[in-house]
Amino acid sequence: MSTSQGPSEMTPLEIMAVEKELAELADQIKAHDAAYYQNDAPNVSDADYDALRQRNDALEKLHPDLVRDDSPSKRVGAVAADGFGKVTHSQPMLSLGNAFSTDDMADFTDGVRRFLKELSDDEMLPLELVAEPKIDGLSISLRYEDRTFVQAATRGDGTTGEDVTANILTLKQLPKQLPADAPDVLEVRGEVYMSKPDFQKLNNMQEKAGDKVFANPRNAAAGSLRQLDVSVTAGRALSFFIYGVGDTSTPLSDTHWGVLQKLRDWGLPVNPKTQVCADGAAADAYYEDLNDSRAGLDYDLDGIVYKVDRLDWQDRLGAVSRAPRWAIARKFPAEQATTVLKEIDIQVGRTGSLTPVARLEPVTVGGVVVSNATLHNEDYISDKDIRIGDTVVVQRAGDVIPQVVRVVTDKRSTDAKPYTFPDTCPECDSRAVREEGEAKRHCSGGLVCPAQAIERLKHFVSRDAFDIEGLGGKHMETFLKDGLVKSPGEIFKLTEQDLAGRDGWGEQSAKNLLAAIEDRRTIALERFIYALGIPQVGQATAKLLAHRYGSLGAWRTAMIAAHVHGSEAYGDLVSIDGIGDAMARDLIAFFDEQHNLDVVAALEEQLDVQDFVAPDVSDSPFTGKTMVFTGALEAMSRGEAKARAEGLGAKVAGSVSKKTDYVVVGADAGSKAKRAAELGVTVLSEAEWLEMSGQS
Ligand code: IVH
Repeated sequence: MSTSQGPSEMTPLEIMAVEKELAELADQIKAHDAAYYQNDAPNVSDADYDALRQRNDALEKLHPDLVRDDSPSKRVGAVAADGFGKVTHSQPMLSLGNAFSTDDMADFTDGVRRFLKELSDDEMLPLELVAEPKIDGLSISLRYEDRTFVQAATRGDGTTGEDVTANILTLKQLPKQLPADAPDVLEVRGEVYMSKPDFQKLNNMQEKAGDKVFANPRNAAAGSLRQLDVSVTAGRALSFFIYGVGDTSTPLSDTHWGVLQKLRDWGLPVNPKTQVCADGAAADAYYEDLNDSRAGLDYDLDGIVYKVDRLDWQDRLGAVSRAPRWAIARKFPAEQATTVLKEIDIQVGRTGSLTPVARLEPVTVGGVVVSNATLHNEDYISDKDIRIGDTVVVQRAGDVIPQVVRVVTDKRSTDAKPYTFPDTCPECDSRAVREEGEAKRHCSGGLVCPAQAIERLKHFVSRDAFDIEGLGGKHMETFLKDGLVKSPGEIFKLTEQDLAGRDGWGEQSAKNLLAAIEDRRTIALERFIYALGIPQVGQATAKLLAHRYGSLGAWRTAMIAAHVHGSEAYGDLVSIDGIGDAMARDLIAFFDEQHNLDVVAALEEQLDVQDFVAPDVSDSPFTGKTMVFTGALEAMSRGEAKARAEGLGAKVAGSVSKKTDYVVVGADAGSKAKRAAELGVTVLSEAEWLEMSGQS
């Protein structure tokens, strides 16, 4: 889709396409955010995640009027997860701007000096900064009332976090009581983390027990703290450092450094590496020092936070877009190491995307042993000419999944093997197809691929598809896990015996479910098509297909025949207004797979898929006719005209052929009007169309 034109020049169909893509991006980004923040298990590489966000930003910039209320660009961090109580922070928990170089740091201090007039007027006035290691964990706010610990909350979206009081109480470092000179109300802010050795120990244990292995210490810390079962947190080694305060009933000091000293005196853990830097040169020296020594620290650092020391200046500087002007995070470059790539495996995601993963000779990168790293996609491997047996540079930075960055070509051995990316799915052997403009291949065996099975089954029973009362996504997960339902057709073979004695299923609820399933044995063709979960085939497309082909049998025959490019069946398919080449390819790919045909056949045995019933419009002059709209109409948009024509029993096509009965010509109609004249197809003006359709 082109994004080079503004909304005003766009056709309704193009607007719909942008809306659809924005909706999909919002969904995908939300799912990735949830995986990362709420389930503590990222399921895409940072590069892929960033690409989604960038695409979303680019589309929103071009189409500001299409920005969704739930747009990812309007969210910071993640919303609090269900299951924990919510805590509204008395003062927002902010994030930080980033600096990546000495120049960026100079820009930061210059900016602060300019903002505080007396500093820019008097070059001799020092700007002292407190430098603190930036730990890669998760931020936490601890509240003390009358010197007693009362509540702990995560950052959440910065305004509202999760109540993790019970979990924090299991941390040995936590002072539950503060001394008498502490204020009545004190909220402290800090970072909970897992040390590198504790992370390795935990992952070894998880692996032995066959449980989830965490991608990095940050995820392990988050996953360990955010446990509804507090005994799990208690069994995990978590630590924390405090780096500041939120709400306080009385000010603690005039300087940030002074505040930290008090906190430390009261027994709160303040990082001993915290230091005051008298000027920019001292700040740079601190950075060099810590960067050199960080691999030897027992926790992950992703940079240094510099904060203006004087609190009156902090107040005056304030914050812009949720980041304070008085602080900045200087990031470290990613940590790298060299190792040998032993093998490349393909991982199939829940939506069918194929990701190549490098199996490595284990190597320590920044204190963590890495044996797997992402290779992103097939172009990444070929562009960098990565071969099996190569010596490669591996990188990990903070949260990011480790990645192979390049080959050390000097060390390439003669038997290093170039890699051929598979064109079939390693999980189910279906064809793996790569669409134009897409970086990743996708497995086309949606309904049979075990990697995708759960998403497809959830889609199959979802509200707009089969909508089986009492059968939700969670049930499908357990049914699949237990081997009770492996493909959609098996839902309709469930018996009372299958459900008897299963957790959560009593006699009555089992009866109800079977009755609800029975109820759906008769299904409308468009719902059936939608439920199959063919890529790009949403509800609107399913309806178009049902309308055009009428019955399951006719549709299937036509899709199989459309396999031959240039065939009449292919021409018919792409002549449907709203179906283009890319969608046609996905439909054909689906019917090219024998196992998809088997799934459809298995469903057909169980179901009564009803033919599409056209609205009763037998007295309309357009009933059963094929129409094409071209040029701009004055009275209505093309989308509306199309909907009206369909409502009157017509089929609306996107291009003119011998089969076209009417072409409605609006202003500035181009080649379609000409073609209609050539073929002798009846041409209607807008006024004639309005009159014949009873709208004038
Ligand atoms: S100050 C007022 N100091 O970094 C600004 N944050 O990128 C609030 N972090 O959400 C943060 N060490 O989780 C601050 N010494 C430190 C920090 C630190 C780690 C984290 C914190 C924050 C994130 C912002």
